[in-house]
Order: sequence, then C-alpha cells, then structure tokens
Amino acid sequence: MLTPNLNVNEEGHLCIGGADCCDLVQQYGTPLYVMDENMIRENCRSYRDVIDQEYEGRGLICYASKAFSCKEMYRIVQSEGLGADVVSGGELYTALAAGMDASKLVFHGNSKTPHELLYAVQAGVGRIVVDHLYELDRLNQIAKAQGVKVNVMLRIKPGIDAHTHDFVQTGKIDSKFGFALETGEAMEAVHRAIQLHHVHLCGLHCHIGSQIFETEPFAEAARVMIRFMDAVRDQMGVALEELNLGGGPGIKYTMEDDPLPFADIIRAILCALSEACEELRFPKPFILFEPGRSIVGGAGLTLYSVMGRKTIPNVRTYVLVDGGMCDNPRYALYQSKYEAICANRADRPANETVTIGGKCCESGDLIGEDLHLQHVEPDDIIAVLATGAYNYSMASNYNRNPRPAVVMIKDGESRIAIERESYADLILNDR
Ligand code: LLP
Repeated sequence: MLTPNLNVNEEGHLCIGGADCCDLVQQYGTPLYVMDENMIRENCRSYRDVIDQEYEGRGLICYASKAFSCKEMYRIVQSEGLGADVVSGGELYTALAAGMDASKLVFHGNSKTPHELLYAVQAGVGRIVVDHLYELDRLNQIAKAQGVKVNVMLRIKPGIDAHTHDFVQTGKIDSKFGFALETGEAMEAVHRAIQLHHVHLCGLHCHIGSQIFETEPFAEAARVMIRFMDAVRDQMGVALEELNLGGGPGIKYTMEDDPLPFADIIRAILCALSEACEELRFPKPFILFEPGRSIVGGAGLTLYSVMGRKTIPNVRTYVLVDGGMCDNPRYALYQSKYEAICANRADRPANETVTIGGKCCESGDLIGEDLHLQHVEPDDIIAVLATGAYNYSMASNYNRNPRPAVVMIKDGESRIAIERESYADLILNDR
C-alpha cells in the first residue's frame, strides 16, 4: 500500500485510518475527500520533534494552510503546537474563526491588498512576510495609522534551482516572488526595512519550491540565507534573529516515488545551517518551516463512483467518474501522477490499464492516464490516493459542480470537516 494508514479488510474493501471506504461512501456519497486525522497529527509531531531534538526547540512549524485549509484543520494543527502560514485574507479569516493564535500566524502573498494588510495588522498576525518594496512602505503606513509596530520578514529569492515542476519552483531569480539576492535588491530591501519606524524586521524568509525530493537544495538555501544574514550584519550592523525556510518536502504519490522521511530532510537542513553559523560566527537564528503537502498529502484520498467506461480499440479505455478537474485539477495543471484502487474490490489484481476521465466538459479533464486498476464497472468505487494536499484547496465550481464534502477519520470513526456544497450554495451570491 502507498501509505501505512491504508489496508484492505476481509471484505476486500479499502480502509483508511481504520474506516472502510465503502461504508464512508454509503454514509456520505461521492465524490468524497477523506482525511486521516491520526496521520496528520503524527506528521505535525515528527516536524515538531526534530526541532525539539536537533535545535533545542528554538523554532516554530507553521503549517502551510494553502495545502488544505478549513477550520478543523487549523484546530488540529493548533492543538499539536503548530502555527500556520496563511496567504490570503480568506485563509486568515478561516484560521481566526477556528481560534488560531494570531501570533503564531505567518502572512504571505506576493500581491497582498491594502485590505488584507490592514486585516493582518489588526488581527495581530505574528509575522508578515513582505514581498516587494511597495508593500513594505504600505505596511509601514498602515501600522503607523494603527499606532503599532509590526513584525516583518522579507521574502528572499536565494537563487536555488530545485528539481521540481516549473510552476511550483519559486526560489529562482525568474520568479514573481520576493527579492533577488544577485541584483542587490534584497540588501536594498533590508536597508529600507530597518529605517522604517513601524515595522520591525525580525528576519528573512525563503521558499525554494514544492514536492522536492533532494536534501541538498534545502541545505544550500539555508547556507545562502545565513551567508546573506552575515552580510547584512557586516554592512548594517544588525544581526537578524529569525530565518523562515518555507516548505517543500516531497511526498509519495506513486509506488515509484521514494522520498526521504521529511524529518531527515529537516535534520540535514538544521545541520547545514548550524555549520554555516559556526563558520561565520553568526548566532543561530530562531527557525521557522512551513510544510504543507508533507503534513496532509498522504493523509488524504478521494472516493469517486464509476459512471461508465469506454474502450476505444487500440487506443485506450476510459473509466468515467463523478468528479474530475473540479475537485482535483493537478493532473490537468501539472500532469501529476496518482495511484488509484477500486475501493470495493481492493483485494483483486490491478490487471487493467485505464485512463480516468472526469465529468467536466473538457478533454483535458483527467485524473490520470494509463493507471493500473482492478477491472471496474459502473457503480464501483475508485479511490485516488494521496490527494490530501492541493486538491480540496484548489477545487473549483467549474461547470457548477458543487465541491465534495471532506470527512475526517479519527481512530476509525468519521466526522464531517466540510459539508458537501449544495446546488443552493452555488447560487448563494447570484442576483
Ligand atoms: N511556504 C510558502 C511560502 C509556499 O509558497 C508554499 C507552497 C509552502 C510554504 C508549502 O509548500 P509545501 O510544503 O506544500 O510544498 N499547487 C501546487 C503546489 C504549490 C505550492 C505553493 N507554495 C501543487 O499542487 O503541487
């Protein structure tokens, strides 16, 4: 099985976290997102434990909620002692509605609106990550008008080329995010930030990309950032106290993927960072990480009902399901590969090669091509695995398909985390 929380019971049904997927379908219908709370919690703890063991607890893990955001998710991460990274007024609103401690929130975005900045300042968000100079000045003015001084970090492009899909790489010089090191822009931003009276530059941030399997790009980013912090100290006499190294550890989507445990990646980063600090006699900064995918990705799956099948001789067999790019746009966007299993016949051999087609009016609406699957017929249930990250959060109402429900499993028991949208929800804002 792809992840340790999956198994097949004696009825031949796929189970996640001790819950029978066929029972879940009976109770909640399809399409259905299912998330395993125990696995999410274990992942949160492994991240926290590395910081405790390898870095004297001098850090904060801020779950990147863009991977999967809802009130229940913020409650879970908060109860595990994590903070969260939010990237819009909407994520901030959800986090606050769930009772998140605002001081443990990091607010991101390369194009925050004045309204979002004011909202973050008024809410007392712990750290605002500034992406460009206009934003820095705007934030300073907003903080001044509010009579406060806000903690900011500057987003730096460390110039690291991580091996991942182009769209999810963010640390290279040609990226819309942050200040480049090579051009002097980053140093200029630091200079500007420390002159302003209503922002406190507490540290720097970088994020090199997502779904990264190698350790070295992360370690190199840590070294580059420490060297830059050292240069800032030399040129400006300020030793910045915090470093946020973003997210990015990759997960196992298919049996071919062989990612390192993310705790090992963090350990290696902390090691590289400590060495760089020692070499330069730079005080070890308070550290932040923002993992998203590696906390929730493997903890989720999506259940679909099969509506039909079409075999085009000598071409391919399509299996058609009741969801598609509206609940999982990742194949259409990035050709991301997934594994699928027939949830009600999971004990049978996967002896067919099929393409799973969605229900949207678009030829590219596929969940995957040439997947190995048990023979399926209409009304069978297909589970697409490892859909916990960037599936619900990137879902849309394309073709006015209501978004599916999200069910959380804890010790074999299920509960609704997000209700299925109704047709009435779809016209709620229509006039
Ligand atoms: N921090 C920042 C500033 C980020 O931009 C991201 C992801 C993360 C943390 C979390 O990265 P993670 O640990 O999840 O890799 N929609 C794409 C992924 C986009 C990631 C954007 N930023 C996908 O479905 O693969």
